[in-house]
This record gives sequence, structure tokens and C-alpha cells, in this order.
Amino acid sequence: MNLEGKVAVITGAAVRIGRAMALALAEAGVDLCIHYHHSNEAAEETCEEVSTRGREAICVSADLSDPVTASVAIFEAAVTRFGKVDILINSASVFENKGLTDSTESDWDSHLDINLKAPFFLSQRFAEQLQSGQTGQIVNIVDWRAQRAGKGHLAYRISKAGLVTLTECLALELAPAIQVNAIAPGAILPPPGEDRSYLDQRAQKVPLQRAGNTDEICSALLYLLRSEFVTGEVLTVAGGEQLTGGL
Ligand SMILES: NC(=O)c1ccc[n+]([C@@H]2O[C@H](COP(=O)([O-])OP(=O)(O)OC[C@H]3O[C@@H](n4cnc5c(N)ncnc54)[C@H](OP(=O)(O)O)[C@@H]3O)[C@@H](O)[C@H]2O)c1
Repeated sequence: MNLEGKVAVITGAAVRIGRAMALALAEAGVDLCIHYHHSNEAAEETCEEVSTRGREAICVSADLSDPVTASVAIFEAAVTRFGKVDILINSASVFENKGLTDSTESDWDSHLDINLKAPFFLSQRFAEQLQSGQTGQIVNIVDWRAQRAGKGHLAYRISKAGLVTLTECLALELAPAIQVNAIAPGAILPPPGEDRSYLDQRAQKVPLQRAGNTDEICSALLYLLRSEFVTGEVLTVAGGEQLTGGL
């Protein structure tokens, strides 16, 4: 896909990896719908940074724990402003380290609603607004943990495993008009509340002996969006950590 003049919706795009992807797409010529939940000021700043790169952006706040309502609100705002959406990137996520004994029903609900059901209903809205002859791309941000069993992060792992399966199923459901792929990051940014030492510790068990960075996720994203013969694929960007399971 030639990205110049395309329109993308990115969820969780005010900060961190979502923000980096928004700015990378703006540099590639894409207009943006920056979805956020609580990060109001950061979302405005991201929109301004998109403008300084010569592209247009709107910010839309929506709570993805109410996936149907949120997906309607996000696509109404984007289509009203830009007239179409060509790219959907599902990046917003919750990430709780809960295991068998301490996971509550509310942990399950939030992980499944935000990490899995929201991407599904956003994909549904995305597909229905696509006009005849228009092509589209969906990229779901998963995690290498989605494809490997391990202890901890139970609801998170399973929600992301579901998102990998959703990626593959939608690649079939939506072909040939829409390509659907996923990126599985490894250690890129420390989780909120952790500092750089979290990544340094993780890096010791990464075969390539370092943490990754947001530029490496953006390169993977641009590769997938520009490719016209890749669908149903998970591109792992984790320095080989997926092979060892972080052990
Ligand atoms: N960081 C890493 O190293 C890493 C590693 C593996 C996979 N990943 C995946 O990569 C993606 C981006 O990671 P990240 O660390 O940059 O993300 P993050 O900071 O954990 O979360 C991204 C955004 O999700 C939004 N969000 C959370 N709950 C929401 C809700 N109820 N409704 C709407 N939005 C909600 C938040 O928006 P607001 O701030 O506006 O509230 C948050 O900024 C995620 O899918 C993550 O699972 C990241």
C-alpha cells in the first residue's frame, strides 16, 4: 500500500508505542485518528506533533472496556472528519501480572474486553465503512507471550492469544480487500510503574542481548503496511526472546 494520503485509526496512540507508530505514519504521509482513554494532554500533544509533520489528526477518547459503544464512537469521529479510514491499528491494551490464584473475574473481563473484543468490534466497524474498490490494512499489536505458554500474566496472554487467532480468522474473512497482520513485540518499554532496570533485567535473557525500541516496532509496522502479499502473519520483534520464553 502506498501510504501517502491514507487515513489510520490507532488505539492507545497518545503515549508510548502507539504514539511512536502515529508519528511514524504521519512521516509516511498518513492522516490520523488518535484514540486515547485517560491521556488527554498527551493525545493533544501527539496530534500537534502530527500537524508539525504536515498531516492532519483528530483525538478521540473512548473507553474500550465498552467495546461496541467505543468502536462506534471512534469510527463515527474518524469517518466524519476524514471521509474514510484505510488502516486500523489495535494497540491499546491492559497488562496485569496475575496468575491462577489471584486473577479475578474483573481482571478477565477487562483483558478480554480491551485486548480482544475491542479489536474485533473495531475491525467490524472498519470493514463496514470500506468503500467498494478501497483496500485496507489491519495491524493488531500482540506479544510473543501470546504464542508460548508461561507462568503469570494469564488473562493477558490468553487475550493476546485470542487476538492472534482473530488476526488469522479475519485475514480469511476480509480477503482480498483487507490484509490483517499482527506485530508481536518483546521487551520494548518498561510497563507503567517500572523503570529501565526492568528492561535491563529482561535483556539478559534475550538472545540478542538487549531490549528493543519503538523505532524497531515502527519499521515492522511500515513493512507490513507497504506489503501487498502478506496477510494472516505475526511478525515477532523480540530479539529472539520468543524462542527461549524469557528463561
Ligand atoms: N511495552 C512493551 O514493551 C510491549 C511488549 C509486548 C507487547 N506490547 C504491546 O504493544 C502495545 C502497546 O504497548 P504499550 O506498552 O505502549 O501500551 P500501554 O502503555 O500498556 O497501553 C497503551 C494504551 O492503552 C490504553 N488503554 C488502556 N485501557 C484502556 C481502556 N479501557 N480504554 C481505552 N484505552 C485504554 C491507554 O490509554 P490512555 O493512556 O489514554 O488511558 C494506554 O495508553 C500493547 O498492545 C502491548 O500489549 C508492548
